[in-house]
Amino acid sequence: MERWDMGAMTASTDASEGGAAIQWPMAPSDTDGWPRAQRPLRLGVMASGQGSNFEALVRACRGGPLQAEVVQLVVNNPACRARERAERLGIACRLLDHRELRVREELDHAVATCFAERAVDVVVMAGWMRIVTPVLIGAYASRLVNIHPSLLPSFRGLDAVGQALAAGVTITGCTAHLVEEVVDAGPILVQAAVPVLSGDDHASLAARIQAQEHRILPYAVALAAARWEQRP
Ligand code: GRF
Repeated sequence: MERWDMGAMTASTDASEGGAAIQWPMAPSDTDGWPRAQRPLRLGVMASGQGSNFEALVRACRGGPLQAEVVQLVVNNPACRARERAERLGIACRLLDHRELRVREELDHAVATCFAERAVDVVVMAGWMRIVTPVLIGAYASRLVNIHPSLLPSFRGLDAVGQALAAGVTITGCTAHLVEEVVDAGPILVQAAVPVLSGDDHASLAARIQAQEHRILPYAVALAAARWEQRP
């Protein structure tokens, strides 16, 4: 990773996955520079699919710069790979299958209750493929974080990578933000810009974006927690 000055700004770049990416705000390279919570945070994570962001968060906590512990994973899909990762990593995982519930609010109520039982401070939607309702947003207002594979506000919704390729943009990226009631909106915490390379297809671009998601999400969680602790 490289850091360079641009006048008043300093940015960090990461070319490790091919094609330089730029993150802003950057995470301090020294762990001591990260926002410190009054006590280690208790994180709850929601995932529907592969769970690579979930694992990145666990790794950032275990020997990484994030002063937190992932205490609970919730999945909505029995076959998802995130579940296997939780088992391997020794993290409690609760399956709340949306197909067994009638309305979105019931699922969100079950999720919020599960996290409350585990005294979760901050919740991360790490590839949660369900629209959330005010039931969950209200329970974790200002401490519910989402990761989305575009530079919001561009390319909200499904298949943001495909949308970026179809639009012919030369730079896309990922965004970690606080969740509000509008889908893929809410205050932005951290973004990373990823160039679209000639010859990129959906898989290659998605992989480079995801490598950046794994970088920005832990720092976004630290920022969200600090903001929440400092609320008036
Ligand atoms: C990520 O690309 C995220 O931006 C999107 O869903 C994907 C989840 O990937 N919301 P994973 O399950 O963390 O590997």
